[in-house]
This record gives sequence, C-alpha cells and structure tokens, in this order.
Amino acid sequence: MSQTASLPRAAAQHEAAARARAEAPELSIIIPTYKESGNVALVVQRLEATLEGLNWEAIFVDDDSPDGTASSVKTIAASDTRVRCLRRVIRRGLAGACIEGMLASSAPYVAVMDADLQHDERLLPKMLAILKQGQSDMVVGSRYVAGGSAEGLSKTRGAMSRVATSIAHRWTTVRLTDPMSGFFMMRRDKFDPLAASLSTQGFKILLDIVITANGKLRIVEEPYVFGTRQHGQSKLDAQVGLDFLGFLLTKLTGGAVTPRFFSFALVGTIGLGVHLIALRAGLIGLALPFVYAQILATMVAMTGNFFLNNQLTYRDKRLTGWSAGRGLLSFYAVSAVGALTNVGAASWLYAYEPVWWLAGIAGALVGAVWNYALSNVLVWRVK
Ligand code: GDD
Ligand code: MN
Repeated sequence: MSQTASLPRAAAQHEAAARARAEAPELSIIIPTYKESGNVALVVQRLEATLEGLNWEAIFVDDDSPDGTASSVKTIAASDTRVRCLRRVIRRGLAGACIEGMLASSAPYVAVMDADLQHDERLLPKMLAILKQGQSDMVVGSRYVAGGSAEGLSKTRGAMSRVATSIAHRWTTVRLTDPMSGFFMMRRDKFDPLAASLSTQGFKILLDIVITANGKLRIVEEPYVFGTRQHGQSKLDAQVGLDFLGFLLTKLTGGAVTPRFFSFALVGTIGLGVHLIALRAGLIGLALPFVYAQILATMVAMTGNFFLNNQLTYRDKRLTGWSAGRGLLSFYAVSAVGALTNVGAASWLYAYEPVWWLAGIAGALVGAVWNYALSNVLVWRVK
C-alpha cells in the first residue's frame, strides 16, 4: 500500500526538480538600492512586463536602507522566486553592491540597472539577444550615441556628466561614449575573474570593469533615454565626485597612489590653508606672540584635519562617540610624530642640497606619508 502510493509521489518530485532546473535563470538583473522603497514594486512590475517569456531573476542589493527597502523587496520575494534580496549591513557603496550582486548570480548573463527607473528596462531583451549571438562580452546602455539621450539629467548634472566623461576619455584608454553609465549587461564568465580587482566605493563600476579587463572585453553600445527619477532622490554627491578622481589617480599611478591617500593629502592641503588663516587670526585678531599663535593654528588645523578625514578619507571606518575622542587624541600624537619626521627629513636633505623649497616639499611629503601610515594603523585601524 505505502509502496504504490510513494511511487507516483517520487515521480512527481522528480518532475518538479526537473522543471526547477529548466527554469534556472538565464539572466540576473542586479539592482543596487539605497532608500528606494517607493520604487521597488514598480521595477519588478516593469521587469515582468518586459522580460515575459525569459528566465530571469532580480537581485536587489540593499545597504540596509533606513526606509525599509529590504523588507519591501522581501515581501515581494516571499511570493515570487524570481526576486531576491541581498541585504548588506556593514558596507556601503554602489560599486560594491553591484559586485556582490553579480557574484551572487549563477546565471550565464548578468545586468546592472538602477532602481529608480531612470534606466530603460526595455533595452534588456535586446542586450541579452546581442550577448547570446556570441560576438560580444558586454552591452552598455549609452546616453551619448545616436538615439540615446540624457534628458533626465538637470543642467548641472548634465554638465558634470560630460566633464566626467571627458576626463575618463583623456586619462584612460576607455573609448566608450558613456563610460559613466551604470546600465550594462555582460557574460558572467567574463566578470568573475575581474571581481577581486575592482574597487568597491563610488559609482564608477562600469569604468572600473572595462579598465581592469584591459582591452579584453568585446563591447557593444546601445542607445537609451535616461529618464527622470520616480520616487526618492539621487545619492550622487561631492564625495562620489572626489572618489572618481581618486580612482583615476590610482589607475594612472599603477596603484601607487590609493584613493584614500589622495583624500588624505587633499585634506592635508586644506589643513594648510586653515593653518594660515588661524595663524593670522591669532596674530592680528588676538594679538598673540608668534609662538602662541603658531601653536593655536597647529591645534586648529590638526583638529580640522581629524574631522575632515573622519568624514571623507575614512568614511567607511568613521569613528563616533568615545572612539572619536580617542581617535582625536591619537591623531594629535600621530601628527606630532609626522611633524618630527618632516623636520628631520627636510634638514637632512638641506644639509646635502641647500635648496630651501626642495627640502621643504620633500619634508612635507615624508611627513604626509608617515602621518598617513600611522593614521591608518593607529587612529582608524584600517586592516
Ligand atoms: N546598495 C547601494 N549602496 N545602492 C546605492 C548606493 C549605495 O551606497 N548609492 C546609490 N545606490 C543605488 C540607488 O538606490 C539607485 O538605485 C542607483 O544606485 C543609482 O543611484 P542614484 O542616486 O539614482 O544615482 P544617479 O541617478 O544620480 O546616477 C546614475 O547616473 C550616473 C550617470 O549620470 C547612476 O546610474 C550612476 O551609476 C551613473 O554614473
Ligand atoms: Mn538615479
């Protein structure tokens, strides 16, 4: 009795397993999200309409948005196996989210698309068809080829986008018309080997992939019209711009100058300006003797540098509360050591080669490198 009943059941299970295998997704669409709860359902609806008849999945990668984006995705995912949510809790960054999403895919093709409906999802089937022909490894949605447009960008954003594009053209070997595009599809087997070499901060994921692949990707561009954002607001800010410049500098120097060092040096340069303003204020405003005014200016500049670095250079390691107090004190100590190495190196060099500005610059550089190395280890404890 039990045997006859279990036979059809086993067969049915077999069939279900076979069906599930046949339905394994062919295309994963990676959708990075930060505060996009208002757009999630709409994106899924649009994908469903456009990708009718294809085996696809959507992987939302959410950086623990405070507006509950992850739970909006999971509510949909609870009744739709094509939708998945990767919720990251201690990391932030658009590029890193895209990378982790693509790494979570086992489909032969992966696409990256924004959640705010500015990217035209109706281009996806065409992108997939092109890749399946086998002559290309990547299809990039471009706003700057005939038929495309960036009409969803404001005047300022449009200008910024063009500047970033021309910088990318001048400083890298990438010749895409829209290297800043965040909308593309590629073969997963071409992405996987690159993943470990990509940078996780900022918005330049496509540019990074193309540069890292070093000419080995066969790329096609397809026009699309960059639309306007549905709900919520853009996360592109000054930090993202700074990150882009730091990234290019790293690539140009073959990795010698990291984005973090670039940011540290930039903050140091600002600190010099702050120092001079505070010095003048001490001398003239407070009528202090030079030594006291210089001490005051040094304290003001160091304190300013600490907070700026905490905000920008080490934003991923930002110290808060008591740790910030501890960090500030150790930053003073580190800066004192930096000042000593600076003066030491400069006087040593000056003894050999008495050119004041050369010794001065060399000393400042040695001091900056020391400060940076010690700040990494002792203040913000970067591994
Ligand atoms: N997980 C995660 N983490 N997602 C993020 C983060 C983050 O830190 N920052 C932004 N996103 C998500 C947003 O939720 C959105 O889905 C997508 O990344 C794009 O972010 P927007 O804030 O809408 O960027 P944008 O419209 O200003 O910039 C777009 O156009 C640029 C070119 O003009 C993007 O497509 C960029 O990639 C592109 O460079
Ligand atoms: Mn957007």
